[in-house]
Amino acid sequence: MSPFEDKVMSGMRPTGRLHIGHYYGTLVNWLEFQKHYDCFFSIVDWHALTTKYNESAQIKQNVFEVLLDWLSVGINPEQATVYLQSAIPEIAILHLLLSMITPQNWVEREPTLKDMIKMLAGDESEASSKATYGLIGYPVLMTADILIFKGNLIPVGKDQESHLEFARDIARRFNNLYKVNYFPEPKPKFTLTPLIKGIDGQKMGKSAENDIKIADTNELTKAKITKAITDRSRISLSDPGHTDLCEVPYPLYTIITDKAIQNQVKNECESALIGCLECKKQLANHINDFFGPIREKRAMLAKNPDEVFKILAYGNQQARKIAIQTLKEVEEIMGFSVLDQCELF
Ligand code: TRP
Repeated sequence: MSPFEDKVMSGMRPTGRLHIGHYYGTLVNWLEFQKHYDCFFSIVDWHALTTKYNESAQIKQNVFEVLLDWLSVGINPEQATVYLQSAIPEIAILHLLLSMITPQNWVEREPTLKDMIKMLAGDESEASSKATYGLIGYPVLMTADILIFKGNLIPVGKDQESHLEFARDIARRFNNLYKVNYFPEPKPKFTLTPLIKGIDGQKMGKSAENDIKIADTNELTKAKITKAITDRSRISLSDPGHTDLCEVPYPLYTIITDKAIQNQVKNECESALIGCLECKKQLANHINDFFGPIREKRAMLAKNPDEVFKILAYGNQQARKIAIQTLKEVEEIMGFSVLDQCELF
């Protein structure tokens, strides 16, 4: 038996290599959670398919990339259950069962889903710009992800708030309909997530091409940081800079470096001792120093895909044991059993 009571469940869609925004915004929190809670971290490839169904051939590589990122930053498969959503067919069955009790208007009014559908429709450059039946089920699938492990603490960003409210409503509806107190109501675990800006000053994002990947080389990191927007009011090197007007480098310093370094760079900037270029060079060095060992570990792991997938297979197996048990109980509660019927054949 696990020594923990609370269950943390979260997932990421495999859409490519992760960036340092994912690290400082999400993964640092997961690293803490895995020490204190029973954690389930899922690479949710079915969710990727809800919008990227025309890019399904890339999903396997993307799963590998996300797994490399997770393992290299220190997500520990001995502490947390790390698994692939599509390796757990019970999640799909639970999704189906939950879809039966989900009122249509609950999905239709879901704001985050509405935004996703709008974004897809507006993206005419993509071959797949149509919202599908599968996409409409996005929040139901996410609910199945969580409930199959009876997750009750769900670390997500604010953008996922409505999905979690939806998951809570479904858990409650299931319990009410079948007069049980079976599913815990999953609560969001919002963490202090700093806004991590990309080099253009906008929120760092995979598709925005403004990001610094965990896996980027030192040279690439330096080249990207060099382009970052700084203090637009500072014209020449002899002008004192303003850290409060600095768009990218100083805000990044406040997230990536410790107070002493922050104070030093603030001082040097505001007394015109260093220019923006020098400041950015030092920032790139700090990023490279921190991510250096992580990148080394990542490169080592990347050489052994079989070993890496074996780690995932181990997590899949652990996750599946629990998923099978939950599904069995759910079917009993609902009064029928697909699994039992399968055993007839
Ligand atoms: N929808 C989440 C996102 O886009 C990913 C996700 C899928 C998830 N299933 C989940 C997050 C279950 C938390 C719990 O970020």
